[in-house]
Amino acid sequence: MAADKITAASIRARKARAGTAEKITVLTAYDATFARLFDSAAIDMLLVGDTLGMVVQGASNTLGVTVEDVIYHTRAVARGASRAMIVADMPFMSYQVSPEAALAAAGRLVKEGGAEAVKLEGGASVCEAVARMVDAGIPVVGHLGLTPQSVHALGGFRVQAKDDAAREKLLADARALERAGVFALVLEAVPRAVAKLVTESVSMPTIGIGAGPDCDGQVLVCYDFLGLFQGFVPRFVKRYAELGDVVVAATRAYVSEVRAGQFPEDRHSFGGAARGEAASPDEARYPSGPKVSG
Ligand code: KIV
Repeated sequence: MAADKITAASIRARKARAGTAEKITVLTAYDATFARLFDSAAIDMLLVGDTLGMVVQGASNTLGVTVEDVIYHTRAVARGASRAMIVADMPFMSYQVSPEAALAAAGRLVKEGGAEAVKLEGGASVCEAVARMVDAGIPVVGHLGLTPQSVHALGGFRVQAKDDAAREKLLADARALERAGVFALVLEAVPRAVAKLVTESVSMPTIGIGAGPDCDGQVLVCYDFLGLFQGFVPRFVKRYAELGDVVVAATRAYVSEVRAGQFPEDRHSFGGAARGEAASPDEARYPSGPKVSG
């Protein structure tokens, strides 16, 4: 384990009492290559979000994602990261049916996926399941506000907790999750003042997304912050790069060079006997895959 390995305990300890602690940084990740890159840039937590249903699988919401999907992607992310804490999202209907089913699904994400924590959406209604997982030694992250698995009940991806009653309910849910033992809480798409109130009212760190600057940490979907997802860009997203444009430009260049016979050139070819070079079994290899000899 890396000396500065991020754990549930180290995240909890960073609760920004009096605003002095360093904020917690979180990105979603779905594969080993991105996980390795984010880990090398000292990200604290990698969330294998069920947003994979939208940005990887191309669906219009997260509801179709399965436990198997999350295990598959979590395994890949866990292989790529050594310092960051790996959190696996619990998909729709993997924890709502019963606390027993929830515990079994969370156990699979840890055992088969290599997750170090799980995240689930909801407040008081999921607290029994949360407590069972925490009892079993599985760290849990809560998720309140806009809970995308309830998209049909919420009537779309909308800002939540806009009136007094909804704000009181959100605060009560946050406190219920705190009692059930979550070590961190995602707050999605809630007014800044509500996120601030919750952050000041609970002992676990809050991680905001569309919740303003007063949370203890921040999460973004990696395809959004890198400018890879070219659909709707929510107002709370800051794009730190426009990789989508880079990918399209590179693809255009590749298509044009291959069509024109400009790539590959001689220097991209294995010489072997034809060029009078000795073929070595190590002449080429994929970064971590099979060797290709010339
Ligand atoms: O699934 C996900 O990526 C998430 C984040 C948006 C917090 O839940």
